[in-house]
Amino acid sequence: MQAVVITGASAGIGKEFARQLAMEGNNLVLVARRLDRLEALAGELRERNGIEVACIASDLAQPEASAELAKALEQQQIAVTGLINNAGFGDRGQFADLDLQRQLDMVQVNVTALVDLTWRLVPALKQAKDAFVINVASSAAFQAGPNMTIYYATKAFVLSFSEGLHEELKGNGIAVSALCPGATDSEFATEAHMTDTLLFKAGTMTTEAVVKKSLAGRRRAIVIPGLKNLLLVWMGKFSPRMITRRLAGMLQA
Ligand SMILES: NC(=O)c1ccc[n+]([C@@H]2O[C@H](COP(=O)([O-])OP(=O)(O)OC[C@H]3O[C@@H](n4cnc5c(N)ncnc54)[C@H](OP(=O)(O)O)[C@@H]3O)[C@@H](O)[C@H]2O)c1
Repeated sequence: MQAVVITGASAGIGKEFARQLAMEGNNLVLVARRLDRLEALAGELRERNGIEVACIASDLAQPEASAELAKALEQQQIAVTGLINNAGFGDRGQFADLDLQRQLDMVQVNVTALVDLTWRLVPALKQAKDAFVINVASSAAFQAGPNMTIYYATKAFVLSFSEGLHEELKGNGIAVSALCPGATDSEFATEAHMTDTLLFKAGTMTTEAVVKKSLAGRRRAIVIPGLKNLLLVWMGKFSPRMITRRLAGMLQA
């Protein structure tokens, strides 16, 4: 079957990507660690949208995970027409105080697995019509973020990688887009110990609105959903880096 692959589809933004892509009539491959959640979502989408859905349990913090995932897709004869690199997590706190392994896992999931999987799936995407890759970065990608330094750095990588790839692959008909949401209502804030931060107290967007913007703009290099987020990114662009990184640090102090 032809299908769109979504990593981190068991919750939040990834789950909403699954719902909206299913409504478009795409078959899906759902990937995350919590297989029970993926199976429940798959059942719902098969019934409601009449599509085919495969679920693959994968811990993307494991170095071999992307290779195993690509192999599973090949074995199941799934022709990939789209890829949503969405799986990711953050952690609030100072670099030197946070657990080292958790921060290395963050780099592995947010950056290395995303690069690894994209590289392995580009040949299949080149065969597909109107293929697309959406890499979920963040508004955190545009400046350094003290008190969440590694997370901000991983998202800066995702944005830069996506912009480069956007130019490299457009000749092959593959649209590559970096989605850069601000605070969004999902399990992310709890997972990252951020529920009581200024960033999340100032208001969140719904996953529904974020994903709608992303899919509508999937052929654009960068999508920043929400006027407030767009304004903050633009203000940051014209402010000295010393100011933007200090302000960003205050958001998760
Ligand atoms: N929410 C926000 O405010 C916000 C803002 C900007 C960017 N983002 C980005 O949006 C993306 C999605 O986050 P979200 O807000 O939807 O958070 P979420 O509700 O916590 O969902 C995170 C998803 O990533 C998966 N995941 C985490 N670690 C994984 C691992 N080791 N292996 C495989 N899958 C893993 C989780 O699945 P399992 O736990 O089942 O494995 C889950 O499906 C992330 O890249 C995040 O950085 C979020």
